[in-house]
Amino acid sequence: MILVFGSINVDLVARVATIAGPGMTVLARSHEQHFGGKGANQAVAAARLSAPGTLVMAACVGADAFGRDSTENLGRNGVSTELVRVCDTPTGCAFISVDAQAENAITVASGANGALSAGDVPDAMLRSGTVLVLQMEVPFPASLDVARRTRQAGGRVIWNCAPVPPAMTGDEATALLEASDILVVNEHEASDIALILGVAADDIAQLATRSATTCIVTAGARGAFAYTADGQVCTATTPAIVPVDTTGAGDTFVGAIAVALHEGSPLADALRFGCKAAALSCLSAGAQGGMPVRDALHVVRAL
Ligand code: RIB
Repeated sequence: MILVFGSINVDLVARVATIAGPGMTVLARSHEQHFGGKGANQAVAAARLSAPGTLVMAACVGADAFGRDSTENLGRNGVSTELVRVCDTPTGCAFISVDAQAENAITVASGANGALSAGDVPDAMLRSGTVLVLQMEVPFPASLDVARRTRQAGGRVIWNCAPVPPAMTGDEATALLEASDILVVNEHEASDIALILGVAADDIAQLATRSATTCIVTAGARGAFAYTADGQVCTATTPAIVPVDTTGAGDTFVGAIAVALHEGSPLADALRFGCKAAALSCLSAGAQGGMPVRDALHVVRAL
């Protein structure tokens, strides 16, 4: 089983020529509404790439249309929603600007995501075959608790430290790494965590050896790099594509890595799998719109 403990959002997306800076107003022709949230995106990405019945999501939504529709969307994509709880706070909502180069800027109104607690995952769900997937859009103490219980039960933990909280402490970063088998971050997040822990921003190899955790850094069109606890480095390239929307590419990568780990693939294969899936996810609008099914990966030629 792959268990995603994380966020569910509805994404409200405006396509703009240039993303607004502080004090600016920019106009968009209209807006699009998509299913999102890093947790939900990772769950959907993993479900589309794995055998039926593999995915379970633990999350909170509000008692509103966004929550009902998002939960139904997970179900349609093959994600079990038995651990999705309805609470009295509105469903999470993300306000996303996508510019002419398909880059994005995101503000998340957390809402119901803030109500998710460690108690939402019963111990009985955590077993030796469990792969737990975490991000940083739900309360950190709850994620840490579920991570530790998963490892006590013999399961493995993939933690996507995104976004890195501005006030994250060294103790929190250390605890996160100690509770993880694999950390996945982009280049900015990698530098932020390294600096929090007093490691040089570009020395992710040291972060991996110091914490005894495999650290994977995603680098968009340049691919991904994995640094293992025993000092090895593994890389994969990203297939060349012309992106329509890069929102959710990182989530697709994480979902694919979870599937590869669950299936027992070697790290190098997992990285290639993740890069192919992430590239394909950029070819349609919305975080989940382009997430590929398994067969689609066979036709991609890695450059
Ligand atoms: O990673 C992309 C996601 O971040 C979006 O779907 C949005 O909901 C935010 O959580």
